[in-house]
Amino acid sequence: MKIRFVDNHRVSSGSSYFSAFVSRQTIFILVCGSLLGFSIAIMTVMSFGANYEDRPIIIYNARQQEGIAPTDGGSLSDTLYREVKVLCWVMTNPANHKTKAWSVRQTWGQRCNKLLFMSTESDGDLQPVVLPFSEGREQLWNKTREAFKHVYDHYLEEFDWFLKADDDTYVVMENLRYMLYPYSSEDPIYFGYRFKDYYNEIEQGYMSGGAGYVLSRDALRRFVEEAYPMRNENCSSGDVYKAEDNELGRCLQAVGVKAGDSREGYQERFHPFVPAHHFFDQFRFAPESENWFKNMSWYPHLHGWGCCSNRSITFHYIEPEMMYVYHYFLYFLRPVGVNYNAITVLPQKLPSQTLK
Ligand SMILES: *[C@@H]1O[C@H](CO)[C@@H](O)[C@H](O)[C@H]1NC(C)=O
Ligand SMILES: *[C@@H]1O[C@H](CO)[C@@H](O)[C@H](O)[C@H]1NC(C)=O
Ligand SMILES: *[C@@H]1O[C@H](CO)[C@@H](O)[C@H](O)[C@H]1NC(C)=O
Ligand SMILES: *[C@@H]1O[C@H](CO)[C@@H](O)[C@H](O)[C@H]1NC(C)=O
Repeated sequence: MKIRFVDNHRVSSGSSYFSAFVSRQTIFILVCGSLLGFSIAIMTVMSFGANYEDRPIIIYNARQQEGIAPTDGGSLSDTLYREVKVLCWVMTNPANHKTKAWSVRQTWGQRCNKLLFMSTESDGDLQPVVLPFSEGREQLWNKTREAFKHVYDHYLEEFDWFLKADDDTYVVMENLRYMLYPYSSEDPIYFGYRFKDYYNEIEQGYMSGGAGYVLSRDALRRFVEEAYPMRNENCSSGDVYKAEDNELGRCLQAVGVKAGDSREGYQERFHPFVPAHHFFDQFRFAPESENWFKNMSWYPHLHGWGCCSNRSITFHYIEPEMMYVYHYFLYFLRPVGVNYNAITVLPQKLPSQTLK
């Protein structure tokens, strides 16, 4: 890597000043010492990085309680919390219970109207719904099908919208509710980050699994009543190994659920990667032929400030520690005196059935 000094004059005059007063031996000891210290630091950071996924990450302190309140009290977020009821279910697995899943539970998960974890083993702390499958990627479609069935059986009437997220997805619940507010949950629609189907079989595309997707009550009803019991030739059973998000998109299209446009203007609100990958385009150094992400995205890509709506809803691949950091940035950190031009009124509701 090339390092450029902004002010060469000051750098060179500084170093000659330095060498005139310090003996060679001192410099030798200093250099060796710094190298040793640096190596130890690197090794510490690396071993930490290598292991921390296995360690429980739990922050205990009083102040955190404020950060995990479901709403901010008396404000627009309260109205949204009451009027746009969202059940969140989070796909996880036993290895992630005490790390990724726990960080969801301690941060954005608290702001859902109902939070469920879907796993394959019980856990006294996390208390996930235990689905009767073995663990592994090839079971994701099985797990997704049963998760929606469970949610349908127990919660269909109690909530309006049903969000699926991964245990490394961060969700800004207030912005999700704001986006959903104009829509009727009795319309067959779902939202997320929209991909094209590689084989063009799903004409309306499908929503990325990692960025999370949200189904209206009617979409959930159609999925479980019409697609899940194998009444549709375009929706496969859990016995077949399928990419969960692609297959869900196929099933939803088959039962007449519309793929919604979740953007705000031209800016995306659901994001399949970490923010930096959207700001800076992670494929910018790759040949065009390898840019599968651009190839598969339904809408044109924007980068830089345009990448992400000011009312973004999700980001993906968020490590457990970063989840707490996001939460801090969103709900705690406030630059003094900045006027946020916060939204204070809700949009007009769309008449139901406008989709058809
Ligand atoms: C399944 O998909 C094909 C191709 O899109 C379509 O022609 C067919 O009508 C679909 N079948 C059902 C039952 O929806
Ligand atoms: C899904 O679960 C069923 C029932 O346990 C099992 O028979 C099937 O093999 C699973 N699907 C895959 C792709 O492993
Ligand atoms: C882009 O998508 C088309 C099919 O839609 C495929 O043939 C092509 O290989 C894809 N390119 C990349 C880089 O994924
Ligand atoms: C996003 O917020 C920034 C800072 O308030 C503002 O300058 C910008 O215009 C906003 N973008 C949109 C599309 O509203």
